[in-house]
Amino acid sequence: MLLVKVFFRYLFIFINLKAHSCTSHFLLIVTLCKSALEEVYGVSTFYSQFVLNPKGDVSIAVCMGTACYVKGSGEILDKITQILGLPSGSTTPDGKYSLEATRCIGACGLAPVLTVNNEVYGKLGVSDVEDILAKYK
Ligand code: FES
Repeated sequence: MLLVKVFFRYLFIFINLKAHSCTSHFLLIVTLCKSALEEVYGVSTFYSQFVLNPKGDVSIAVCMGTACYVKGSGEILDKITQILGLPSGSTTPDGKYSLEATRCIGACGLAPVLTVNNEVYGKLGVSDVEDILAKYK
């Protein structure tokens, strides 16, 4: 089972780098692994490193963990959705931006937190969102 997980991990990384539509790749993994669809789906949705949709060049993640949520991350997520016209869990058609709500990223002392690619922004307010997004145009 460990080898299967490792295989999935690298295959999904490859897919995230190359694919624009993962449905056919998902079915390819099912075929290659000779596994049940629900088993592959279960593994691929359990680990947060696996994603079923390709991430954008600018990958935005808003923490929706308890500390961040209590301090307003929901409003921050709404503001980003409003500015980019991009619902959480999706990627723009041109592949430039993707937006997701994440679980706690372990930076609760900076709540509310968002990340853009690997850059962490903390102690945010809704008014900070436009300035952050402007850096990635
Ligand atoms: S709850 Fe957001 S970093 Fe922990």
